[in-house]
Amino acid sequence: MSHKLYLYPKWIRAWHILNALLFIILIITGISMQYTDNITSKFIVRFDRAVAMHNFAAAVLTFNYIIYVIGNVLTKNGAHYKINRKIIFNQLIVQFKYYAWGMFKGHKHPFPVTEDSKFNPLQKFVYVLAMYVGMPLVIISGIGLLFPEITVKAIFGVSGLILTDVLHITVGFFLSIFMIIHIYTCTLGAKPFTLFKSMITGYHESDEDKH
Ligand code: HEM
Repeated sequence: MSHKLYLYPKWIRAWHILNALLFIILIITGISMQYTDNITSKFIVRFDRAVAMHNFAAAVLTFNYIIYVIGNVLTKNGAHYKINRKIIFNQLIVQFKYYAWGMFKGHKHPFPVTEDSKFNPLQKFVYVLAMYVGMPLVIISGIGLLFPEITVKAIFGVSGLILTDVLHITVGFFLSIFMIIHIYTCTLGAKPFTLFKSMITGYHESDEDKH
């Protein structure tokens, strides 16, 4: 038997689709810039175009991110990201065991989706890490690279600009890996496309036997 829960309000769906599209543009133009070193050279996109597209997408992403944070502060969606530090570690182990073997043996989902709790502990933990640690770091370091005059000149003799660049590239890399794993875990709903459908319709469909 399956039942439906309205878990993804319109604003979160709009934020998410824009965020995902911008992310793809940022990854492609970011990789492109990484492998070209002068104005007219080209890897995927010509260097000067890659810079312009990257800056524009990043500015829209930042604006979109501010809407996401304000939306989560003002609406009840933010409650889904609240972590209970006393129990999260044990919950993560239970969820991890489910993903490692329980899932393949047809066990029931240890944290079924409800209106008050749409994320499992692992999802919640990773979303908080990506959205409230990774995103601010990549945005702030990006602003530092866009406006080098406001960036710290040197830290222990090492150029502040180089350190900011390393931080930006490293966090960008981890967020890209997050996106790939995120897309895979989104295939683990009742059926492979159920969760993708949820992010379009707003309704989470669960198969009571499984999820
Ligand atoms: C093509 C790329 C992407 C696809 C196909 C995708 C797919 C999905 C799907 C199906 C969901 C609903 C299932 C769930 O609640 O976990 C979801 C939720 C979510 N995704 Fe993505 N995603 C993509 C990119 C991203 C990126 C780049 C980020 C952040 C950097 C992100 C962050 C989130 C967050 C925070 C949620 C939960 C939103 C909420 O309900 O409050 N996603 N994604």
